[in-house]
Amino acid sequence: GLAGAGWAAAGGLLSRENTGETLTSALPLPRPFTVPLPIPPVARPVGENRYELTQRVGRVEIIPGTTTEVWGFDGVFPGPTLELRSGVQTTVRVRNQLPVPTSTHLHGGVTPPESDGYPTDVVVAEGRGFRPPRGMHGGGHDTSVWTFHPGAKDYVYPVGQRAATLWYHDHRMDFTAPQVWRGLAGFALVRDDEDDALPLPKGERDIPLLICDRAFEEDGSFRYPSLDPSLLVRPGVEEAFMEGVQGDVILVNGAPWPVLEVDTARYRLRLLNASNARRYRLELTGGVRFTQVGSDQGLLAEPVEHSSLVIAPGERFDVVVDFSEHAPGSEVTMVNTLGEGRTRNVMRFRVRSRVRDDSRIPRRLSDVPPADRAAAVTRRVFDFRLTRGGSGEMWTINGVPYRPGTPLAEPRLGTTEVWRFTSDFHHPVHVHLAHFQVLSRGKGGPAATDAGWKDTVDVRPYEVVDVLVRFDGFRGRYMLHCHNLEHEDMAMMADFQVV
Ligand code: C2O
Ligand code: CU
Repeated sequence: GLAGAGWAAAGGLLSRENTGETLTSALPLPRPFTVPLPIPPVARPVGENRYELTQRVGRVEIIPGTTTEVWGFDGVFPGPTLELRSGVQTTVRVRNQLPVPTSTHLHGGVTPPESDGYPTDVVVAEGRGFRPPRGMHGGGHDTSVWTFHPGAKDYVYPVGQRAATLWYHDHRMDFTAPQVWRGLAGFALVRDDEDDALPLPKGERDIPLLICDRAFEEDGSFRYPSLDPSLLVRPGVEEAFMEGVQGDVILVNGAPWPVLEVDTARYRLRLLNASNARRYRLELTGGVRFTQVGSDQGLLAEPVEHSSLVIAPGERFDVVVDFSEHAPGSEVTMVNTLGEGRTRNVMRFRVRSRVRDDSRIPRRLSDVPPADRAAAVTRRVFDFRLTRGGSGEMWTINGVPYRPGTPLAEPRLGTTEVWRFTSDFHHPVHVHLAHFQVLSRGKGGPAATDAGWKDTVDVRPYEVVDVLVRFDGFRGRYMLHCHNLEHEDMAMMADFQVV
């Protein structure tokens, strides 16, 4: 898989700040802010609290005038948005009609282990045989860790959790990065009465924004190193692979640098960084601020103002942006101040008409208990690091590459622990099942962007981040991993077993 390609020399990469090589597209790109922002379709139920999503090849127009083959849920990218209700168990049947095995993970979901999208629990298209791979890293020799579903699998989501912006994406062993790059991701929005009752912007002014980067071949297909062996020998590309793959086109909801017409009103924007590896520092032009109302796992206790937001892969920020003081005809651009050249642009808002707006942002949003370090029964350390091994260098946790079925921790159901993440590079650390609050970064307290309940935390080079993590919901086998998807595929993942 990715392994051989990526485990080569990593010269110099440890010292730099998000400046990995960006793949360059080989076709003419549209002028920024000319393509209208699409809103992903909402999935329609096929029965009471039942949905079906079919993973298949689709052909879509991303770069105007060209066609891109995507591997999408229902053949679209982003996939249909799942509207979930807190307290309502929902079953999603995922059919696979792709030429590759898949595993689907509900990111941020409190989900029983058999529906969590374990990397070796795969669905394979009807009629296609499946043999567990041998000789790959991460337990490839131990065929007992594989489960194989011909055609389809029912994923059962109890949704016993509060309102939050979740997402779903492929999680196949060793191949998550290329499969998500080709389109296997979508939103899953959990709603509840508490969130509904707040006077925040609603309906057409509550907009999910899936932000990711891609690069394109001359014929409009996605460019990705492993899809083109010739790319692997070009200087810089190996390094790009090691750092995670980044493209030169920023897509929002699958459209390049789109534009959205807005009214003179507040908008709730659910920002998701679904990129394989790119971090963004989002800012709005003209000094417009983000008022953050929610994090990965739903409402904050109270709003937090940001003039810029650093968002790492896998993270979500639920923000309100106020266009009410802007004259019709004016424009506000969302830029990425970590980007260079065309990756500095993200999207634009163009103010259309003057309206009356009844929404507001309450001073108090929800109850979020203060994180109490003393509540922890255990403390564990997870060190995310490049390690030198037999086959070169590899991304590891506590010095070991991912081995499915071998847990690195056995927390008890119903308890709270302190998990310390240390790292040598940018590693956005994601924990399945369990939600956490950030206790500290280095000697300091949490950053302004760390507020609330989270499931993914941006750990920066040589930083020590402590989180207070709560094990609720289910016993069983789950994972934690780096959400830089190339790092994840290169074995920076570990099991933990809730006992
Ligand atoms: Cu969004 Cu295990 O991943
Ligand atoms: Cu990483």
